[in-house]
Amino acid sequence: MTTHVQTKFEETAALEDQFQLATYKKFPLAAERGEGVWLYASDGAKYLDLYGGHAVAATGHCHPVVVRAIREQAGQLLFYSNLVYSEVRARAAAKLVEIAPAPISKAFFCNSGTEANENAMRMARMATGRTRIITFTGSFHGRTADAISATALGKYRELGRPNVPDHLFAEFGSLDSVAALADESVAAIMLEPIQSMAGVRMLEPSFYQSLREICDQHGILLIFDEVQTGVGRTGDWFFAGSAAAHGVVPDIITLAKALGSGVPVGACLTTQAVASHIKENDLGTTYGGGMLAMAAVSATLEAIEADHMLENVKHIEAYLREQLAIILSLTCVRGRGLLLGLEFTDPIAAKVNKALLERHIITGTSSDPHVLRLLPPLCLKHEEVDLFIDTLKEVTSDK
Ligand SMILES: Cc1ncc(COP(=O)(O)O)c(C=O)c1O
Repeated sequence: MTTHVQTKFEETAALEDQFQLATYKKFPLAAERGEGVWLYASDGAKYLDLYGGHAVAATGHCHPVVVRAIREQAGQLLFYSNLVYSEVRARAAAKLVEIAPAPISKAFFCNSGTEANENAMRMARMATGRTRIITFTGSFHGRTADAISATALGKYRELGRPNVPDHLFAEFGSLDSVAALADESVAAIMLEPIQSMAGVRMLEPSFYQSLREICDQHGILLIFDEVQTGVGRTGDWFFAGSAAAHGVVPDIITLAKALGSGVPVGACLTTQAVASHIKENDLGTTYGGGMLAMAAVSATLEAIEADHMLENVKHIEAYLREQLAIILSLTCVRGRGLLLGLEFTDPIAAKVNKALLERHIITGTSSDPHVLRLLPPLCLKHEEVDLFIDTLKEVTSDK
């Protein structure tokens, strides 16, 4: 009888499964290190990461500028709260405001996407004195009480029962359904300008313009949840203010994911008009604006700028779209920049995702079984696109 010797991966998986709550379906690999678009597993295999650790690794894994900044900051001061001023926090806030579209002029720091959205809704309620929030069918805004109550996608809202009251839902893309709900009792309309988890759904620029007009007509604040679309992912620093948004600037932009290149950090960016309603102690969180996270934010923005990643996103998006045009089983490619949804004629996204993973390419699925998602690092290059296209052809048998 032969006895099975556990591999390093099997050992890690068994230990983690024994002691971590089983809330995630995991890939059959243990991540050990990363470099740019590549993720290395404990068995030495390397994976082309077109999912970016769920849109987090925008600068690529372990960008040297980010790693150096974190190392230096860790040796100097890991954390002190907002009781004190900090040069590293001041610089991060100033840089974020500098790259944001006018009239955005203030930042509030927190630790995650859901927390950014909670604070954005709270700011809107404080600024307007109203309580209702309109979000959209297909939306995902996070898993804490108010954010999950603002989420319409799938089963999530149900998981947050009993939900926070005063959440209303409009049909994504239907101005009539927004108009039917919008009145002087509504504090904010919040939306992901591109709905990612719903299958990368975006709208015509005129839709965002009309939303802005409806908001202005009723004194409602507009919130863009840019947790996925922000920090360069669409080829602009933000979807807000871009041509895709018809230049529309919301009253609040929420950020997280890519903002710290993997160091947990979230932010709400807003205007002076909204900020003027927020007083001392109205918002807060211990870790928000901590030095390590702030060093990661500044270094992330610096790396994107220094490596001309915004230009690369536009260039690689065009190349990807050109190459994807030859994949026969695709009906269309949705999204913008490097937030792309590949829609197949048949509901085969999960099958394709699995087959690609077996060939060491990581992609994402979505709530739409037809749509495979790409959220790669913003430094993706031609040869990596070529490798992906060749492998996609192989797994979809278009060869
Ligand atoms: C658009 C959007 N908003 C909010 C969130 C919640 O972010 P976090 O998981 O950091 O709380 C997510 C997470 O996937 C998201 O995609």
